[in-house]
Amino acid sequence: MIKILPEEARTLSLYIYSLCGVHLDETKGYLLENRLAPLLQENSCGSFSEFYLKARSDSTKTIPRKIVDAVTTGETSFFRDSAPFDLLQFKLLPELIDRRRKNNSSRGPISLRIWSAACSSGQEVYTTAIVLQETLGNLLNYNIQLLGTDISDQAVARASYGVFSRMEVERGLATEKLQRNFVPVEKGWKIRDELRGIASFKKLNLMEDFSSLGRFDIIFCRNVAIYFTEADKVKLFSKLGNALDPDGALIIGSTESLTGLCPQFEPMRYQRSVYYRLRK
Ligand SMILES: C[S@@+](CC[C@H](N)C(=O)[O-])C[C@H]1O[C@@H](n2cnc3c(N)ncnc32)[C@H](O)[C@@H]1O
Repeated sequence: MIKILPEEARTLSLYIYSLCGVHLDETKGYLLENRLAPLLQENSCGSFSEFYLKARSDSTKTIPRKIVDAVTTGETSFFRDSAPFDLLQFKLLPELIDRRRKNNSSRGPISLRIWSAACSSGQEVYTTAIVLQETLGNLLNYNIQLLGTDISDQAVARASYGVFSRMEVERGLATEKLQRNFVPVEKGWKIRDELRGIASFKKLNLMEDFSSLGRFDIIFCRNVAIYFTEADKVKLFSKLGNALDPDGALIIGSTESLTGLCPQFEPMRYQRSVYYRLRK
């Protein structure tokens, strides 16, 4: 395998940071070496310096896109950490629906907007869809927008397709949930159309401005900010605060915390979960 020199690791780390905000310090040379090796080969590059120059001058942006796909970790699963989905089912959704019913003078369908920022291959979005259906019943009675976004083209394409291998569905889905919400297809299991129909997916870099998405009732932003610098986390969560309804809830990863980072958020507890609301 081609070895990466310390100077090349520094240059490529800065380049990757400019592409997606993922911060890899110099000690992560081995990670770059392993993750980028197939791309060096694909582009017939004899060194990381040559590869860097090729990526920078790629007018089609194919190489930078593939670099982002290679370095971002798409680790995810259905019902990951379980507690946030109990929180959704037994606290956030019932409260939200109650509030909306009281304020719904037009008697039209109740609207809900939920965003999974950094949704990877879609398991978080479809888990949310399953919980919505289990909690609300017929989803056609509601006006639901469930958005999944990710910086990785590959992840967005996979999420949008909604087909998961046997191994993927076995991670987190009980047999009964699998059979109720998926149909078997040649390559594994496909999410049912009713659930796929309430979801939409698009590519989005959380480092950039996303104010055009509007406001959400619930935002999941789990296990992505861990790759960012402290300064970038502050910027990201402050933008997420602006994208959250004043009564909305922000759910972050089970190993993450906003304490001491973003004073505009107040931590709330529900059983094993911590989630955040905007301070009034
Ligand atoms: C570890 S996965 C988390 C998936 C899911 N939220 C979960 O917790 O199971 C992290 C995801 O963040 C995405 N990501 C990394 N940098 C990003 C950025 N700047 N903007 C949007 N997504 C990003 C990666 O492509 C990857 O799919």
